[in-house]
Parts: sequence; C-alpha cells; structure tokens
Amino acid sequence: MIVGGTVRVPGDKSITHRVLLLAAMARGTSRIGGALTSLDARSTARVLRQLGAAVSPLRPGSVVSVEARGRLRRAEAALDCGNSGTTARLLLGLLSGHRFASTLTGDGSLRRRPMRRVTVPLARMGARFTESNGDGLPLTVRGGALVPLRYEMPMSSAQVKSSLLLAGLAGGVEVELREPHGRSRDHSERLLRAFGYRVEEEAGWIRFSPIGRIGAFELQVPGDPSSAAFLVGAAVLAEGGELRIARVGVNPTRTGFLGVLERMGARVPVEDVADHFGEPVGDLLTRPAALRATEVLAGEIPGLIDEIPLLAVLASRAEGLTIFRQVGELRVKESDRLGLIAENLRSVGSRAEVVGDDLHVEGGSEPPRGPVRSAGDHRLAMAFAVLGTVAGARIRVDDMACAAVSFPGFPEVLRGLARRARS
Ligand code: S3P
Repeated sequence: MIVGGTVRVPGDKSITHRVLLLAAMARGTSRIGGALTSLDARSTARVLRQLGAAVSPLRPGSVVSVEARGRLRRAEAALDCGNSGTTARLLLGLLSGHRFASTLTGDGSLRRRPMRRVTVPLARMGARFTESNGDGLPLTVRGGALVPLRYEMPMSSAQVKSSLLLAGLAGGVEVELREPHGRSRDHSERLLRAFGYRVEEEAGWIRFSPIGRIGAFELQVPGDPSSAAFLVGAAVLAEGGELRIARVGVNPTRTGFLGVLERMGARVPVEDVADHFGEPVGDLLTRPAALRATEVLAGEIPGLIDEIPLLAVLASRAEGLTIFRQVGELRVKESDRLGLIAENLRSVGSRAEVVGDDLHVEGGSEPPRGPVRSAGDHRLAMAFAVLGTVAGARIRVDDMACAAVSFPGFPEVLRGLARRARS
C-alpha cells in the first residue's frame, strides 16, 4: 500500500470521558467541541443523563452541550456503562462523593473487569459498596461524607488515579496518590488544574486540594493519539508515501509509542505543537520504515498501554525478537489482550508467546495470513486490520464492528489512506 495525504482522527477518548464528567459537575451549560462520539463516549453521556445532566446527542462534527447543576442527582435505574471501563471506574469515584445509592453495570466484557482496584481505596475514603459479582459489576455504590486519602496505588492506572481524584472533587477532601512505576496519563490532573484546583507533584506523590469550583466551560478535545497510532502503524508498514495526522493530542504521558517506534527505526516527527486547555496538540508525520526489534521496559508501559496491540503487530514485521516487559495488566482490558495478541499473531503465521508477564514477538517477512479472533476488543481488531494492509496479507478479523468503541469509521479511514495516496 502507498499512503498519503492529511487525515484527522476522532476526539480523545480519555479526555472526552473526563470532560463530560466534569461538565456534569459544573453549574451552567458547557460546550465541548471535537468530542469523541464513539460507543464508549455515548456510554458516559447516557449515564450522566440518568444522573440529571442534560447532555446533547453525541454526533460527529457537532458541539456537545452539557447543562448541569453542580452535583449529580440520584438515578432511577441501573447505570449501564456498556464496554467502557473508564466510565465505570471514574463514575464510581464521582458517585462516592454523592449521598445516594447507584448501581453500575456493563456488557459481558466490562462485568468481568476488576473494580476492587477502585472500590478498596474509595471505601477507605468512606464510600460503601455492595458487590453482587465478586470483583466485577454489577456493583452498588453508596456515597457519603468522605475523609481525605493518602494512598500508594498497587498498579499504575489512570483510571484508578482519576477515580480517586474525582472522589476528592465530589467529596471536597484532599487526596494524595503515588503510582508504583511509570506515569499513567495525566489528563485529569491537567484538567483539574485548568479549572483552578491545586494539583501538586512532589517526590512521586500527586496531591489534590479540593478548594475550587467548576464553572461552565468551553473546550476543544484534541484527536486521540491512541487512534492515530493505528494509522501511524499503517503508514510505517506501507511501501511508500507520507501521511500527516492533524491536530492529535501529544501529551507525553500518551506518546510513549513514538519513542518505541523511533527505536524500531521509524521516526514520527511532531509538528506545529500548540497548547489546548493544558494539553499539547500537534501534527504527526509518518513514512514507511524498515523495522528492527526492541525491548519495551516495564516503566514505559503506562505511557503506551493501549498501543501494545499495535506495537506487537509491528514487532511481527521487525527484524529480531521484541520483548514487552511486565504487561500483565493487558489481561484485564476489554479482553485478555495479552493472551489474544500472542494467539492471533500465531494464527497469522508469526512467532509470539507470553512468558510470565512478558510478551515475546519474533519478527518475520512472510505475508501474514489467517483468521483473527478479536473477542469484541476494538484495539485488537484495529491492530490486526493494520497488519492486514501488508503486501500479500490475507487476514480475516472476525468482528470489525467493535472498532466503533473508540474509532467510528475506522475500516473506511484505513481504506481511504491508500485511495488518498492514489488520487
Ligand atoms: C484510561 C486508562 C487506561 C487505558 C484506558 C483509558 C483512562 O486504563 O487502558 O483505555 O482514560 O484513564 P488503566 O488505567 O486501567 O491502565
């Protein structure tokens, strides 16, 4: 494939969730441009409507308005978070600071994902939880008067961190947190600062002080670097051309994959960087490259956690053995991503295995051929669709519809890359 032209990717998923939740805690009408309108973003909008915020329909290209009264209100029915772990975990934090009970549920994948990583520290702050499915959803949270928290997180996770910060916000208490290794995405910290809250960092600790108030706001969400990564991957694997992905968020806690790509021999320069509400935004420029293997260290993982499926398929085209260290967290994503990356790579003819919590991928140059089981996981489906653009590839992904969880229209955009280059 020859790629070319300039493309845009949908709005950042993490920022869209956070901005919707914060708008629902503001007094007045907020307006959000460039918001993601995918299934996950719609899950957050839907549950916020149940909780009393008037969120306008999420339609591509239109500004989303959120009219709210400074607090959430009790919902009549259970809150269905769909496939979205971010919705469920961040909402559990926000609801911990509200004095009513709410029941959260989700689809089959989300009901299997661990929630105690947030409910254990939230219970320490004073929220009460009633479990009906062990560590998973459905789960009832009863918020209350919270006490401050000082907490060393057992894993680096932006969802856990953000959940606890939002509990501090809703409950009006101080929260101090520390992540074990590597820094997870810091969008919540940046947004809270942009709203005038004090969020300080010192010796690995993040300290949030609840003094402040969120007024209605207007904001533009940048393109999602995690969605852009798939198009970068397609351009790196292409046989020619140059692709520009315009106005993508380039927050350094999200762009770890660019550093790994550079070590693998693919340079992706970032141009025209500007600041948007505390977030750096720029254009990514990508060309084809001959790839070589690398080692991705444990400390790098939080900064590229969602890009591992894509990096793994690229590693299967690189010369040598690539090792991803300490990627056990991938077992509790939208699927057992760790097992399925290896299984699917083997299914299309590559050598890949899980060794303890590490992932080993041996590169090769045979055209990848075979079936791919996505288990409804959007990032697996998109990563293997990218691998399917290699010359001579014959890859059948069982379910591409799940791409709509984070990247509506992805198959068409991927096909369009090659068309753009020809025209
Ligand atoms: C997210 C955090 C990450 C990431 C997910 C989005 C967020 O999860 O995988 O897609 O928006 O905070 P963890 O916090 O569980 O690592």
